[in-house]
Amino acid sequence: MRWTTFALSGTFALACFAQAPVQKGKASVTKKEFGKTTGGEAVQLYTLTNANGMKAEIMTYGGALVVLTAPDRSGKFGDVILGMDDLKGYETPVPYFGALIGRYGNRIGKAQFTLEGKTYHLPANDNGNTLHGGNRGFDKRVWSAKPGPGAELHLTYVSKDGEEGFPGTLTARVVYSLTDKNELKIDYTATTDKPTVVNLTNHTYFNLAGPGEGTILGHEVTINADRFTPVDAGLIPTGELKAVKGTPFDFTKATAIGARIEQNDEQLKLGKGYDHNWVLNKGNGGLTKAAEVHEPKTGRVMEVWTTEPGLQFYTGNFLDGTLKGKGKTFVHRGAFCMETQHYPDSPNKPAFPTTELKPGQTYKTSTVYRFSAR
Ligand code: GLA
Repeated sequence: MRWTTFALSGTFALACFAQAPVQKGKASVTKKEFGKTTGGEAVQLYTLTNANGMKAEIMTYGGALVVLTAPDRSGKFGDVILGMDDLKGYETPVPYFGALIGRYGNRIGKAQFTLEGKTYHLPANDNGNTLHGGNRGFDKRVWSAKPGPGAELHLTYVSKDGEEGFPGTLTARVVYSLTDKNELKIDYTATTDKPTVVNLTNHTYFNLAGPGEGTILGHEVTINADRFTPVDAGLIPTGELKAVKGTPFDFTKATAIGARIEQNDEQLKLGKGYDHNWVLNKGNGGLTKAAEVHEPKTGRVMEVWTTEPGLQFYTGNFLDGTLKGKGKTFVHRGAFCMETQHYPDSPNKPAFPTTELKPGQTYKTSTVYRFSAR
């Protein structure tokens, strides 16, 4: 019953937006040079524009979203993501702003896993664990790019056998597309030549009031999940799927991010705020609604739809006001991330949905960020 209400309110918001008068243009993709990495690789910046004038700028370094615009209540498009001014800014480095994450988004405990009897050792880049693919994950690689029809960009990265400790040559393909329903769609596929593990995601930092426009504590969030995966001090799941009911992790009804974030709760303390994986209620599987975020001042709404079983909701707890970009300062909790994914540490948790990929299989996931206003 709760899910019905949730789905209907999303449809209602969308219907309202669809009635707003829009000037129809032609969907397009343009390209420009974005400079060279310190390693000397050329990086391009692609601009995707849909028929309504919504824009996504994507660079080939990290396949990262640099700009993403969305309509406010008056129909005006404005940027809603954190980002830097130039390539140098991104190589600072930054904490995965806008980037594609691989081979394994989120954490692998003790920086190792065993597959078909063989133990693989990975870089321990996060308190003895592996975070976001190791020292030089997919966010720090230059992807090859080809525009598709309409407002589409096709990115490919071939990760060598043994790169960052992972087995198998992994060919990862990501298609970004902007639809005329003001959706940013991200389709991920991957194949391997040896058994391996894979968990791809995107690490965009959203602030629906605009990048650098204060904290996100007033944003109202709904997450379609009755359970989450509690973590230990290293943010590795304990293995329990815990009910959110009666905890500050219950977002089954729209709640401001800041309403409970400072509560005396062990899990909130471990995450320094929200930095946890929610176990999505999946119904029949397929592309289902994972979350909705509403920013009351601008009226902007972002819905997240995904084929993935999990959602890492991170509230920018490690942002501390030292990073600046787009003419602004990125304050503590000045953005949130909604990283659709398999659960953290799945390679070491046989009870979690598997992240294994074998030769001959194709890894395939999709996530849609849909924008409207009310
Ligand atoms: C992810 C992690 C966080 C943090 C950020 C980057 O969301 O879960 O703990 O590492 O990336 O700072």
